[in-house]
Amino acid sequence: MRGKFVLNGNALPEFRHQSEAVIEALCRSFGMEEGFSGAKPEDVRKSISELDILPEKGIGFDKAMSLVESKVLPDMLKVSLFGIMAHLHTPVLVESIAAETIIAAYNQSMDSWDQGPSVTEVEIALIRRLARLYGFDGNSDGTFTSGGTQSNLQACLIARDKAFAKLGSDVRKSGLRDLSGKLRIYISEIAHFSFHKSAHILGLGYDSVRCIPVNSRMQMDVELLEKAVDEDLKAGFVPCMAVATVGTTDFGSIDDLEAISRVCKKHGMHFHADAAYGSACILSGKYKKRVENLRLCDSITVDFHKMFLLPVSCSCILVRDAADFDCLSFHSDYLNREEDEDDGYDNLVGKSLLTTRRADCLKVLMAFMVRGADGLDDMVTSMLDNARYFHDILDAKDDIETLNEPELTSVVFRRLPSVKGADVNEFNRKLRRWLMHEKRVIIGQTALNGDVYLKFTLLNPALEKSDFDKMLSVICGFQPS
Ligand SMILES: Cc1ncc(COP(=O)(O)O)c(C=O)c1O
Repeated sequence: MRGKFVLNGNALPEFRHQSEAVIEALCRSFGMEEGFSGAKPEDVRKSISELDILPEKGIGFDKAMSLVESKVLPDMLKVSLFGIMAHLHTPVLVESIAAETIIAAYNQSMDSWDQGPSVTEVEIALIRRLARLYGFDGNSDGTFTSGGTQSNLQACLIARDKAFAKLGSDVRKSGLRDLSGKLRIYISEIAHFSFHKSAHILGLGYDSVRCIPVNSRMQMDVELLEKAVDEDLKAGFVPCMAVATVGTTDFGSIDDLEAISRVCKKHGMHFHADAAYGSACILSGKYKKRVENLRLCDSITVDFHKMFLLPVSCSCILVRDAADFDCLSFHSDYLNREEDEDDGYDNLVGKSLLTTRRADCLKVLMAFMVRGADGLDDMVTSMLDNARYFHDILDAKDDIETLNEPELTSVVFRRLPSVKGADVNEFNRKLRRWLMHEKRVIIGQTALNGDVYLKFTLLNPALEKSDFDKMLSVICGFQPS
């Protein structure tokens, strides 16, 4: 057999050599203190332009690796190091990197049992365990997805199809017909944009999404939700789904699951929780009360590539009623014959929007087994404790205004310039850019009612109080030129 192309007996020396070289390069890179080089876009563009991307003759692994190490790795963010706190973009658990290697090497695909026998069974077992964790019973189900966006899309699809079925229409077979403008989906005004995208993709349009204002705690105002549903019913619309956000992207605020659940029950709406951000909170003994009412939902988006600290991509959607997945079942002669199921071969393609799909479940399995419930509790609790500490030391400064009480790990604030009449928004925009390029610190920026705010999303349980004290002094050191 010809060697050196794929991972077989002949390629093992190369595989070992290349793996060792990568590990050595990573150790050189991650042994530093700072997570970002501070480079500007033009510097990064110049480095990348120096690569001959498709040379006439291959240069071999050692030269290619050396170029990647000198031109690409230096401006990669090291999300686990000090100063990278902008987005819901996490450092990853060490063991999950090992799991990624296994996933890549075996390259299983989750669509049919015969492309991933053991990982199919792992996903099924894991989904069962997760369902139990979130308080669903034995009738529930779930599937891994590429991220919260896909999980939310799948939830909207389920809700749309159920609403159409209630109206006596089979949308799978007949399409939207003249009902497309009739459905209404309710989200809070600060929910994730994936619901608008989903409404577009599903043929419902942005107009079908009603954004309900939030209260002072950045939670959906449930009285206004009820009012909106009543108005829509009077106007002849069909309320189809309400979404509770369990961890809004900017503020980490958690909607009132119990109150929204009551509205959904009253009007027969599908109740989805977008817990992409906050789902891991269930692992924390100290904080899990904040999310325990996820058990009241019909479906839940759980993102493992956020607070669970697993590498992109890794997410799932859980459904209380396994029958909700019927809308995606489809038998094809080449992949998932009906007789397979009769004979006990589970082909998971019938639950997913995707066909070929990575065995991401392996990362969750590995992290869960390595850490155990107590280790995961520790990890999540320390992230939430960090957020409270950092919020409090920012808040104690006279020239810093905090915007939220952190329910998860987001801290939103702005600095107030000492010069009277200075433009606060411009001051904070400049502060963020200064942090990025002069101090190699990347933090987020958002807006509320037209005002610029800065944001920390704290997802690194390895950081300690002294790191936040240091960050505070860096922020306070900014003086605009
Ligand atoms: C609340 C919320 N939902 C959904 C998403 C989308 O998740 P993903 O980026 O995994 O597609 C995000 C992303 O930040 C989010 O914050």
